[in-house]
Amino acid sequence: MNLPPSSTGFAFSKGCLLLDDTPLVEIAPQLPSTPCFIYSQAELIQRAEVWRESFPPPHSVYVAVKANPNPHLLSMLCNLGLGATTVSAGELRFALRAGFPPSRLFLHGNGKHPEDVRAALEAGALLNVDSAFDLRLIRRLAGELSRPARVLLRINPSGVDGLHPYLATSGEHTKFGLTPREFKELLGDLSPSGPLEVVGLHLHLGSSLTDLAPYQSALSFALEALDAVRHPFPQANLINLGGGLAVDYQRRGAPLPGSRELAKLLIPPAEGAGVRLMVEPGRHIFAPAGAILTRVLGLKYRGGRVLVVVDASMNINPRPALYGAHHAILPLEAHPERERAVCDVVGPICEEADFLARGVEITLPREGEILCVLDCGAYCMSMASRYNLRPLPPEYLWDGSDLRLIRRPEPPEEMLALFPPPLSH
Ligand code: LLP
Repeated sequence: MNLPPSSTGFAFSKGCLLLDDTPLVEIAPQLPSTPCFIYSQAELIQRAEVWRESFPPPHSVYVAVKANPNPHLLSMLCNLGLGATTVSAGELRFALRAGFPPSRLFLHGNGKHPEDVRAALEAGALLNVDSAFDLRLIRRLAGELSRPARVLLRINPSGVDGLHPYLATSGEHTKFGLTPREFKELLGDLSPSGPLEVVGLHLHLGSSLTDLAPYQSALSFALEALDAVRHPFPQANLINLGGGLAVDYQRRGAPLPGSRELAKLLIPPAEGAGVRLMVEPGRHIFAPAGAILTRVLGLKYRGGRVLVVVDASMNINPRPALYGAHHAILPLEAHPERERAVCDVVGPICEEADFLARGVEITLPREGEILCVLDCGAYCMSMASRYNLRPLPPEYLWDGSDLRLIRRPEPPEEMLALFPPPLSH
């Protein structure tokens, strides 16, 4: 329990887990059920503001909706002036519902469905072009809908060492973007007189980067490529460097670079070349602002370990099972008098991949107590599933004094209602 105290977000101080300086033991009784998600409005706003201030106009910050598509959270970010980066017609729809204007919407993807492209063109969003077949689709639909398409070409810089293979999206083997050769060929096929206007380039190195050097090399690579784009499209001046900054899931207070350091490194060379930067953070804005509250169902003893069985599962945080990710799990109150033990924290889903932590030393909780799984604001609810037919949980927003329900619990009947009658019995 070596979390530094802080005034926003989740922090342990004087034996209590605080949410924006209010003990969670005081907030938890207001929650009708577990598991559930709880977000700090102050932390979310503060994190987004730092991004916006780090990249002031003409640069722009587009939040990656895939990290957390809750429209209540998105609309707060929209009000701060951020844009939204989306990957499907569904995400675009949520971003529009949250209030993002067309001038602050971006759609990208390596396998866009015609409906995704149609939705983006109809909304007037910026799109990326990921491949020659993607270009054909965008061109055809832009013609059919008589809508101009403003696009960024996604180029593929060299890979970044040390990332989990599922989170690395650059380098030779990635499914994303254009190789230098494909980029050259595709550029040769584009003319400024068509329905497509190339306004710049798109890159994304990967996710959970702890080092900024790859961004610097990626920018040099992109500036060179932009010179080639400016030949047919002299107005092209936008480089979108994607998202990817890591957060301190270990909660050891590790000094990780943030948006300020990133901006300091990238803005001078970009401005020197007359280029506007766009960045699209997801995890870095959302992750620390959200947590899962889960109840202890009971303990089991296996070998040298204690299994703490809780009511949250891989359904609502698949990250440990998928990426071997670590999330700190804390009690609401410290109990220094209790025994500590090496534990696996597991859920009720019927498979062994269902764990939230493995081999972590924690103070043994008691049945019925609530635990808090930290840093679940990104890629938890957005990747949640109904596996084992467990309905998706509610989400709450803490505004410093009140809890607001921002996603209702899913009634189990709604799952069955998707299957049209009659059933043959
Ligand atoms: N832009 C592009 C083009 C992306 O592909 C992504 C994430 C982002 C921005 C946002 O990246 P972030 O700042 O959040 O790292 N489910 C995984 C993360 C997959 C991220 C995929 N792309 C996880 O739970 O770690």
